[in-house]
Amino acid sequence: NRPGAVDVDEILAFAIQLARDAGHMIREGQAGIFASQSTTQTKANAVDLVTEVDKAVEAFIFGRIRAAYPSHQFVGEETYDGQVITDEPTWIVDPIDGTTNFIHGYPMSATSIGFTVGGVPTVGVVYNPFLDMLKTRLPLSGRPRPLADLGQALISVDIGGSRRPSVLSSRLSTFEKLAGEPEYGGKMVHSLRTIGCASLNICQVASGGQDMHWEIGCWAWDVCAGLCILTEAGGAAFGGKHTALTGQVDTELLVGRKYLFVRDIAAGPGETRLKIQRRFATEFYDLTD
Ligand code: IPD
Ligand code: CA
Ligand code: CA
Ligand code: CA
Repeated sequence: NRPGAVDVDEILAFAIQLARDAGHMIREGQAGIFASQSTTQTKANAVDLVTEVDKAVEAFIFGRIRAAYPSHQFVGEETYDGQVITDEPTWIVDPIDGTTNFIHGYPMSATSIGFTVGGVPTVGVVYNPFLDMLKTRLPLSGRPRPLADLGQALISVDIGGSRRPSVLSSRLSTFEKLAGEPEYGGKMVHSLRTIGCASLNICQVASGGQDMHWEIGCWAWDVCAGLCILTEAGGAAFGGKHTALTGQVDTELLVGRKYLFVRDIAAGPGETRLKIQRRFATEFYDLTD
């Protein structure tokens, strides 16, 4: 190893242990919150929630990384102050992805530990401590063949944090176009799912239980680990890799398996569809042809 070179296997093993230890803290932290009835704090608006556990888990993860890899960069949701992701080895961490679920006791939250080199997600570990479900380097599984059309897809979506009418209605109209009958311009997909945890949704696409995930507004820590796992499993993403990793909010994220007939989604009306079509024509659809 050159000095400063990155040993990916070592980093993966370190990240797995770290995710499990953080998961232990998250479970204990939830028990503490439920026992003390402690209140949660809000950030951007009344549905943007954070707890002391989110902050404590991030501090714990950061401390362990700093001790083991003092020269690496660190970006975490709860300490983010506008850092730009560079080409340096960088840890991108969401201590609790799915804080709303965590607060409600809905068992779909995860700690998401991603690591980039040259801005590319290189190691990803997503761990749901409530289901003891660890996702990393997933074997390809699930549905083996291409879908005949989008109507056969199971797609996850998220309502997002902004509830302003303009933002909300555009999301709801996307849901409607995916779910609605073809007679009314819809794709009538098998169904839509929303579990409120971006990293678990992306992993679900990676492991084959869902065909696609769509949402707007992800940040780098929501997607970094998941995108690494997804690409290793043969999936592809638009948005997350290039735009969400720069820390931008309100960019579109669409992830899917390479077999998916993504072109089909582009056939519907509306700005969102057109954007997807244009981007997927080069970034994604060509791969499946
Ligand atoms: C959120 C969740 C949610 C997704 C949002 C994320 P947080 O993360 O993953 O499902 O739709 O984009 O911000 O705030 O619970 O870590
Ligand atoms: Ca949050
Ligand atoms: Ca998150
Ligand atoms: Ca979070």
